[in-house]
Amino acid sequence: MQNYDENDSVAAGFARHDEDTTDLTLVTSGQIEAHLKNAGAEDRAWLTRQNFNARKGDLAWLADGSALVGWDGKDDLAALGHLPMRLPEGCYKFTHSITNLQAIGWGLGAYQFDRYKDATRTPARLLLAGENDLVEVMNKVCATLLTRDLINTPSQDMAPSHLEAEATALAERFGAQIDVTTGEELLDRECGAIHAVGRAAADQPRLIDLTWGDAKHPKITVIGKGVTFDSGGLNIKPGASMRQMKKDMGGAAIAMGLSYLIMAQNLPIRLRMLLPAAENAIAGNAFRPGDILHTHKGLTVEIDNTDAEGRLLLCDALSIACEDSPELIIDYATLTGAARVAVGTEIAAMFCKDPELAAAVSAAANVTDDPVWPLPLHDDYTYMLSSKVADLVNSATSGFAGASTAALFLKHFVNDDVPWLHFDVMAFNTRARPARPEGGEAMALRAVYQYLEQRYGDT
Ligand code: BES
Ligand code: MN
Ligand code: ZN
Repeated sequence: MQNYDENDSVAAGFARHDEDTTDLTLVTSGQIEAHLKNAGAEDRAWLTRQNFNARKGDLAWLADGSALVGWDGKDDLAALGHLPMRLPEGCYKFTHSITNLQAIGWGLGAYQFDRYKDATRTPARLLLAGENDLVEVMNKVCATLLTRDLINTPSQDMAPSHLEAEATALAERFGAQIDVTTGEELLDRECGAIHAVGRAAADQPRLIDLTWGDAKHPKITVIGKGVTFDSGGLNIKPGASMRQMKKDMGGAAIAMGLSYLIMAQNLPIRLRMLLPAAENAIAGNAFRPGDILHTHKGLTVEIDNTDAEGRLLLCDALSIACEDSPELIIDYATLTGAARVAVGTEIAAMFCKDPELAAAVSAAANVTDDPVWPLPLHDDYTYMLSSKVADLVNSATSGFAGASTAALFLKHFVNDDVPWLHFDVMAFNTRARPARPEGGEAMALRAVYQYLEQRYGDT
């Protein structure tokens, strides 16, 4: 079980002691009449003056110093997500019960990335009532904050060696084992694809391999694409597309956040986290279009485009993951622009061979307000990946179904008998929403955790 101190709680937007708290009450538009009736004449006048209609985002102060918060009646992150930055600094509590999901929304709305610039203010803090599970809420919030910080940190301070340091710190915190294969050692381990993608960068590519938990528990392997900067390689990206590519390790950051949550909650599984980490850089020794790579699985891959590098990192990690026959492999990757065209930036595209598993994860996504949407793993499109000189090309010549062809590429490296979930994610909020500030974001993290807890949790 996690032990959080005062500082952790404050950073996550929560208060631990009953300091001077201000009362808050959620009010829907349907309840507003009743509230007006109960209120004194002065309060009624103030509510009108403040134009309080109990719409989502409305806030009104009453004469006794408490406040009403407009609410659309939904149990989601947005219900309280705007409050930590909207309310004056201080400590608050609700006059009624709130759900753990709403509390998580508060915590996520308190986030600020302050590594390079002081935070503008301290978020308003929430004192949780006894019926909310503070540790579980904190674990879920802190998992997401970890992911966001990793993504928001620029590539100069989040190179493969920094990702390794972060994974090592995570392993130490929870008593996990960690093993890292770096640089030329990747060739000894026959990870020719990871090595090729990362070898042109000053900070060497590596495969980070963390294991935790009782070996008798079901084996779950979480993989994340850890491209710490994606210049595109020799197929260099235009400036505007390269601009956000510090976030191309978003998959690795989500895998770390999910691993944090699994370990903090002590979920009875045997966890393995595999992070292939590399910077897709340009130098004289960069891999080139036309090169043919030797993957860990033994399949050869002709490079059509050096910018389709994520699937190359993942293919070696996936075949290594299959070697110890896990019950489930979950991978996260900022893999294709095509997935963003298909479902936009705010939904995680999900690929899965098993419709029942996909349905269970979709249901978990709904209850956690962490949206995912299935896209097809349509085997007939595999022809687009055929090469005249190797077993596969890394990028289809046509961009049609680009997220599906990327997923089909990965499927070649997953054994048929191993259940597998693949998430093609943005890992970044392009606009600020309540509980979802602009910047790095942990997409499909709480959804997958919810599924794992339902399936493997002992309560
Ligand atoms: N990291 C990018 C994909 C990406 C871009 C994700 C923007 C989210 C936002 C990936 O490595 C990439 O460059 N993919 C190419 C693949 C293509 C060359 C087949 C793409 O999507 O254009
Ligand atoms: Mn790329
Ligand atoms: Zn990439």
